[in-house]
Amino acid sequence: MSTVTLTLDGKDYSLPIVRGTQNELAIDVSKLRDQSGYITLDDGFANTGSCTSAITYIDGDKGILRYRGYSIEELAEKSTFIETAWTIIWGRLPTPTELRRFSMLLTEHELLHEGLRHHYDGFPPDAPPMAILSAMINSVGCYHPELLTSMNDSDFEEAAAKLISKVRTIAAAAYRMSTGRPIMYAIPEYGYVQNFLHMMFSLPNQPHVMDPDIVKALNLILILHADHEQNCSTSTVRMVASGGANLFASVAAGVCALWGHLHGGANQAVVEMLEDIRKTHCSVKDFVEKVKRKENGIKLMGFGHRVYKNFDPRSKILRDVAQKVLQKQGQNDGLLNIAQELADIALNDDYFIQRKLYPNVDFYSGIIMKAIGIPLNMFTVMFAIGRIPGWIANWKEIYDNPKQKIYRPRQIYIGESLRDYVPIDMR
Ligand code: ACO
Repeated sequence: MSTVTLTLDGKDYSLPIVRGTQNELAIDVSKLRDQSGYITLDDGFANTGSCTSAITYIDGDKGILRYRGYSIEELAEKSTFIETAWTIIWGRLPTPTELRRFSMLLTEHELLHEGLRHHYDGFPPDAPPMAILSAMINSVGCYHPELLTSMNDSDFEEAAAKLISKVRTIAAAAYRMSTGRPIMYAIPEYGYVQNFLHMMFSLPNQPHVMDPDIVKALNLILILHADHEQNCSTSTVRMVASGGANLFASVAAGVCALWGHLHGGANQAVVEMLEDIRKTHCSVKDFVEKVKRKENGIKLMGFGHRVYKNFDPRSKILRDVAQKVLQKQGQNDGLLNIAQELADIALNDDYFIQRKLYPNVDFYSGIIMKAIGIPLNMFTVMFAIGRIPGWIANWKEIYDNPKQKIYRPRQIYIGESLRDYVPIDMR
């Protein structure tokens, strides 16, 4: 079957069927309005494919996530964040030479222009780091006007390396400024994650002691966040890119979209929720009952997902890592126990079963980051650092498509009909 027939007002319309490489099926309605005058309406895009894409595959019913065809479980076990980032952006695993070259490019671009450092002075000390991140990413673009217009392959590689490398420098500097500590320069011999931890936690007179297991756990968190097909922030990046905006502006917009508590902000909200349960001595059972009653609109943060209706494979991987990291750090502040009790109760409760609500990636990632010493208000920034490769790859898909149209959804207007303007003295 390559078409489907839709009958409207007694007239038949033949609509093409699009089949993905994993046999996902869609009805192409792009010509429907021209032919019939009807549009399709799908509030929240829950049943709308906004594009075709070759980057990430998700089967939400089976709990499958693959970047460029590689399973998330295998990448989590065998890859590093930088190798995964390269794979997502360029479509296959890099050769050793390609990976070495890209790592060298990252080292080359890890510093910020001195002019950019003054931008931090314009932010109040308690400025939300996501605001700083978005503003600074856009500002980085201003220092490279040659990368804001048309790009050849080598320009793109340079822009991608700048973004991936500088984003951790920007993030760590935002944290240091907020704590009044001096900004640390990256150390070229360090790997990506090591350098981030160094810039976050070292002092000029006291280098941060790196535990390889913690470096590995953070690498893993970044890998698991590296892409997730057409989520809110990635769709934002594509939307902005479709208007012809440059890579830096498009990614800066993605950061803003990620900020929201229903999206990237959920990892922070999870830890706040767990801390609240601990502080108020509310029993986990009572809390779940409140969620089910939708008291004050509260939700079980870190539960539920628009696409995963069975389990989130990222959450499964992180659950075991959370246990290990907490043991390693000798921490037991009770949050993981509360989280596990919440999960046990919710996973056996009809409310959550019927609505297919399972722990998502944010349910355990916050607990791990807290154990590593990442401050709460930096959790969503960590998500953004991880998601940069996915945003870059999605931007490139739009940029490379000669037939790309500007993203411009329609709407059904439900406001007032035509009415007369009333002069101000007569209202
Ligand atoms: N706790 C309690 N109830 C929930 C939850 C939750 N976490 N999530 C959904 N529900 C309920 C809704 O109230 C609704 O109930 P109803 O049928 O009685 O009206 C039903 O489940 C369906 O929920 P929707 O909001 O329609 O689901 P949607 O797919 O639009 O939302 C979302 C997905 C935003 C992730 C939602 O599950 C949620 O708010 N979760 C908590 C926040 C969170 O963890 N976000 C992180 C998502 S992952 C990410 O961005 C990396």
